[in-house]
Amino acid sequence: MRRRIAAANWKMHKTAEQTRAYLERLSAQPLPSGVDVVIAPPFTSLAAAAPLVRASGLALGAQTMHWELQGAFTGEISAPMLLEFGVRYVILGHSERRAYCGETDASVNRKVKTALDQGLVPIVAVGETLDERARGETAAKVMRQTRAAFEGIAATALTGVVLAYEPIWAIGTGQNCDPAEADGVMATIRSCVAGLADTPILYGGSMNAENVGAYVSRPNIDGGLVGGASLDPDGFAALIRNAA
Ligand code: PGA
Repeated sequence: MRRRIAAANWKMHKTAEQTRAYLERLSAQPLPSGVDVVIAPPFTSLAAAAPLVRASGLALGAQTMHWELQGAFTGEISAPMLLEFGVRYVILGHSERRAYCGETDASVNRKVKTALDQGLVPIVAVGETLDERARGETAAKVMRQTRAAFEGIAATALTGVVLAYEPIWAIGTGQNCDPAEADGVMATIRSCVAGLADTPILYGGSMNAENVGAYVSRPNIDGGLVGGASLDPDGFAALIRNAA
């Protein structure tokens, strides 16, 4: 039985003060025990989030990290720095990092290896653009990204990872991917690398409290990586309840 996960990817939203207010509000609401909830705030809010996340049984995530443990990498954050705040999950290879910050299949692979070595759970994001989808290249794209992310990693180690299928055209657009179509892509992802049978795969791309149920009822979909709909604590609580 795979775990069900609702992960909030706040992107570049919320100061430390806003983070505290959000988490106080979220933790005041009844949340189902069957869903692992991950909150991935900006780095600057990790310290504010850590005690509140811990007290309410949620898990802390980060939105990226460097593959080296330390060194001359101005502006970067390493796994030990995240671990110091109690971070458990780290999103790697998000399409915005690939598009705007030079993230490549090769750097994602290095980061996944470091995350696993350091005891962090990588949430590896893959997905196609609208043009790639129109050209019928979705399967080829996500298989390439998935194989590259896990290259050189033993199949037995993949029980420690989480995947996210995020069609780029669905992110932040309000145009979510049909759950049946997403499930089909996830079946492709699950079977393209040995060892992913028990790996949770999340859907991401305009997921909200209303549509989450249609995703998690599909055989390959184990939850969501949620951007916009995670920013309001009441809305995200409703999404978590509907994911149970
Ligand atoms: P969205 O973002 O829910 O706002 O579409 C999801 C993501 O980018 O992880």
